[in-house]
Amino acid sequence: QQRETSTGTYKTQTGRVKIPIFLPSDKIKEMVSQCLQARDMAYCPYSRFPVGAAVLTADGTIITGCNVENASYGLTVCAERTAVQRAVAEGHRHFRAIAVTCDIKDRFVGPCGACRQVLMEFASDWTVYLTKPDGSYKETSLSELLPLAFTPGHLTQH
Ligand code: THU
Repeated sequence: QQRETSTGTYKTQTGRVKIPIFLPSDKIKEMVSQCLQARDMAYCPYSRFPVGAAVLTADGTIITGCNVENASYGLTVCAERTAVQRAVAEGHRHFRAIAVTCDIKDRFVGPCGACRQVLMEFASDWTVYLTKPDGSYKETSLSELLPLAFTPGHLTQH
């Protein structure tokens, strides 16, 4: 199976050296393509800001989500959370990666803080692909995006 070339180790904000988890490049491409397709399904009549997400489960399944807005604005659900909730409802609890995209062409955009916390519920080592509309992506990780996080483990350790 073809693998991504090594990008080496990198330091997180807490100074710890992390070794990226390499996913097969065809899986990454599939996630990227599926998050772009999911973005086209976004229901966002209020913000007109479509977002798409694709999560990769431990068994290699890809499940997508888009943002779903509501006339009562605060009830809006982000694309990332739609994807995670859909995956959990389909029996998945172990995840490896998520690809996220929106319509912004000139920079990589990260998931909102609420979605970072929801991702943290299921794993601290998610690989995150911030994807531009042209399909280019930047690889990061949840531990990079949400350092010093509050996790389920804290509830059992007090
Ligand atoms: N949104 C997402 O779907 N994910 C994020 O991480 C950021 C924001 C959605 C929510 C809302 O429908 C629109 O983008 C504008 O905030």
